[in-house]
Amino acid sequence: MTELSKNPDIPLVSGQRTPNRRSTGTHNAPRAVLTGHLGPRGVMQLGWLRDLGARVHKRKVIQLTEDKATDVSFHIPRDISCHGPDMVLKKSSGPDKKMQKVWFYEEYGPKEVLSFGDFPIPTPTKNQLLVQVHAAALNPIDFKLRNMPLAPLDFPVVPGCDMSGIVVEKHDQASRFKVGDHVYGNIQDFKAKGKLKQLGSLAQFVAVAEDMVAEKPKNVSFEEAASLPLAVQTVVEAFKTGGFQEGESVFIVGGAGGVGSMAVQLAKHVYRACLVGASTSGGKVNFVKALGADKVMDYTHTHYGEIEDKYDLVIDTVGDSKNSYVVGKETAPIVDITWPPSNPRAIHSSLTVSGEILDKLNPFLESGKVKAVIDPKGPYHLCDVFKAFEHLETGRAKGKVVIFPFTPETYSLQHVI
Ligand SMILES: NC(=O)c1ccc[n+]([C@@H]2O[C@H](COP(=O)([O-])OP(=O)(O)OC[C@H]3O[C@@H](n4cnc5c(N)ncnc54)[C@H](OP(=O)(O)O)[C@@H]3O)[C@@H](O)[C@H]2O)c1
Repeated sequence: MTELSKNPDIPLVSGQRTPNRRSTGTHNAPRAVLTGHLGPRGVMQLGWLRDLGARVHKRKVIQLTEDKATDVSFHIPRDISCHGPDMVLKKSSGPDKKMQKVWFYEEYGPKEVLSFGDFPIPTPTKNQLLVQVHAAALNPIDFKLRNMPLAPLDFPVVPGCDMSGIVVEKHDQASRFKVGDHVYGNIQDFKAKGKLKQLGSLAQFVAVAEDMVAEKPKNVSFEEAASLPLAVQTVVEAFKTGGFQEGESVFIVGGAGGVGSMAVQLAKHVYRACLVGASTSGGKVNFVKALGADKVMDYTHTHYGEIEDKYDLVIDTVGDSKNSYVVGKETAPIVDITWPPSNPRAIHSSLTVSGEILDKLNPFLESGKVKAVIDPKGPYHLCDVFKAFEHLETGRAKGKVVIFPFTPETYSLQHVI
């Protein structure tokens, strides 16, 4: 069990204070030695210490695994202090107004590469708004991009696409919104030229082009709004790719996930499908029916080939189009949102990021016909981004994994040890 001394000059110790076993000999200042079992929380703790000015042997930190004991040397500056029974870490000099707290990573890898630290608050440029984030949502693309180099980006990367929040500043050329407006959107445009945006939505403040966000309906909370953008934009693109016409039938493969739960609702209430079919595992059948599916298949007990109805469009949100295509009519488009599709007949569809899509969704949210679906294990506090990723990465989420509230000042050592 590790603990951080309340005295800033006393080193970080594990259990019994130990002599420096691995002194680098480079600092005259007090040095800390952390020994013992360090899991992912240990990595986060080291991220915090680095953030607070400690010189951390980063290689060793990043290489830590849950079952590997190690020791790491620190030089802890004198201005770090720990307050209160829950040992909230604060800089004694107070927060720098131009910096903000973010989750970030500096190399590819599992969620253990994530750290919590400081990042500059951006200045809105042409057509941009500066939004104070009140809630965010995670999507599989956030961990896929973190796991391996899928798209050009610069480190450090702050993950996250979906967010809702309040406009706190805007560029002169931004005219659609005013300071104080409540907005929501997907701030990462995957089809834009060049590198992906470095500063994602797991941040206190983001800069975003105003045409990428929409006004948040008043009857929708921040956490509900944050859950919507990327999933809705994906569903709209999939229906467009499939050339869906009102009154046709559609089958959603994976009706309970972040995209699937929205696809079922939009199929029923926005696209007015005459028949909505969906697949999910047994325990979620009633949940998917309640979203608006007329017929729900438990894929753990039934094969797609056993389904008698044949649909005008199949939208596969889980990458099973090699099997699921049989629920489509002979000439039905099979739209697979995963890459690469497992069936050569399937058409891949990739979302278009735009606030206009959300503007069009708003009346359905206001009338209550379409509802945000937040995974019942959440929402996760900003401190619990680790747990949130852990759950999303099981592939078993029910609706959207949401991060709320955004109160980094409550980040405590209880969360990292
Ligand atoms: N192309 C694009 O523009 C785009 C956009 C967004 C997402 N995506 C991709 O689409 C995929 C889904 O995204 P998401 O956000 O919906 O993920 P998600 O929320 O993690 O999906 C989890 C859901 O998948 C269901 N599921 C897993 N295996 C299944 C199976 N064999 N049959 C039926 N349901 C199954 C799970 O239900 P059970 O627990 O019942 O199995 C769970 O509810 C990801 O690969 C993501 O990267 C692509």
